[in-house]
Amino acid sequence: MTSENTHATLRITGDVLRFRHDPFAQDGALELLGDHSLVIGQGKLLAVLPANEARQRWPDCEEQDYRGHWLLPGLIDAHGHYPQLAITASWGAELLPWLEQYTFPEESRFDRSDYARDMAARYQRLCLQNGITTPVVFCTSHPLSVEAWFEQAEALNMRSIAGQVLMDRNAPDALLRDHETALEEVQNQIGRRHGHGRQQVAITPRFAATSSREQLQGAGWLMARHDCLMQTHLSENPDEIRWMLSLFPECRDYLEIYEKHGLLGPRSLFAHGIHLSEDETRLLAESGAAIIHCPSSNLFLGSGLFAARKLVDAGIPLALGADVGAGPSLNPFSVMARAYEVSRLQSAPLNAAQLLWLATEGAAQTLKLDACIGRLQPGLEADLIALNPQATEALALRYNRAESIEEALFALLCLGDDRMVAATWLAGEQRWSPYSRV
Ligand code: GUN
Ligand code: ZN
Repeated sequence: MTSENTHATLRITGDVLRFRHDPFAQDGALELLGDHSLVIGQGKLLAVLPANEARQRWPDCEEQDYRGHWLLPGLIDAHGHYPQLAITASWGAELLPWLEQYTFPEESRFDRSDYARDMAARYQRLCLQNGITTPVVFCTSHPLSVEAWFEQAEALNMRSIAGQVLMDRNAPDALLRDHETALEEVQNQIGRRHGHGRQQVAITPRFAATSSREQLQGAGWLMARHDCLMQTHLSENPDEIRWMLSLFPECRDYLEIYEKHGLLGPRSLFAHGIHLSEDETRLLAESGAAIIHCPSSNLFLGSGLFAARKLVDAGIPLALGADVGAGPSLNPFSVMARAYEVSRLQSAPLNAAQLLWLATEGAAQTLKLDACIGRLQPGLEADLIALNPQATEALALRYNRAESIEEALFALLCLGDDRMVAATWLAGEQRWSPYSRV
């Protein structure tokens, strides 16, 4: 597989892990190509070839030697809140009190550019360190929190999707903006940032409870006018659902609130979706909307057990999210391990290939980015990671006992953390390794 006529600048050599097909459709989806090179030029993948062939063909370009490591596409974290980084691991509360006690006070601090910039830089650095090359995030309701995010993502050339959180009621005054001002601000961000370089703006109503009908309608209007994704929360917690239905008594269920305001469609990303009714599941499937599954957050806040298999069987697109700060860490391997455990508890365990799919190729499809990222396919952007499968003693012990790729990958997902990430490349540039920090 090669893409001709582009000047190659880098060969990365190691063991290439990739999908032959969708692991939800058929078993045997993974293949590991030993001693292969990823050949890169102009930020794109040009070829995936046996290392000796690549060396013969491009003898003069730089080679980075990751033999003994697994080379994968960079991971996608499809849901998180960068302004909540400093309140991860906050004890004891379910969703609504957690928002009141920890989240809203912290988000109120994002009226200062220097603070927002510092947190955006930290979050993006932690993404790289954890092998995440595409984060999808909520900012806060302050426009400068959006500016801080995009400024830094652009400087790193990190592909990202982010949006200003829309809130005009039921939260501290410091976080509320009248809906017309916020609408104008988001339009302005779309004009300046959306589709520029590797950045995309998502329309981001926090959840129905913190937006008036007018604001939700305005968000729907923006969605109809622009090709942006829309991200929000749905059906995370029983108290949250009761609150929604009391605020919107005209709606029969939570999903109908979004539907009524023009926020349900193939570009909608709903985080959580744990307590959906049969009607809601059917409507979601018909609409083409996606659910972002955030298992570590759901366990941490005690929100409930997401029925991954059921939603896959219903044809609903999924992706995984760490949901920092309700999720206690950005570590995507831990998110995959928690997704396994949650599915195991419901007697419908996801396998290793399916878990990785939901953080790579499957996630890219869900985010409509599969023409750009998520696969080791010539022509796509060279967002890559190298994993050391023997990074820790426990990992090495288990890895060396594995008798198949799937078994080895499962060990990596269960036992791995950022120590396993030996390098992260964004558009062909190495942006993180334990020896060279950004
Ligand atoms: N629902 C509304 N806002 C939030 C948030 O910040 N985190 C989570 N997990 N759920 C939410
Ligand atoms: Zn969230």
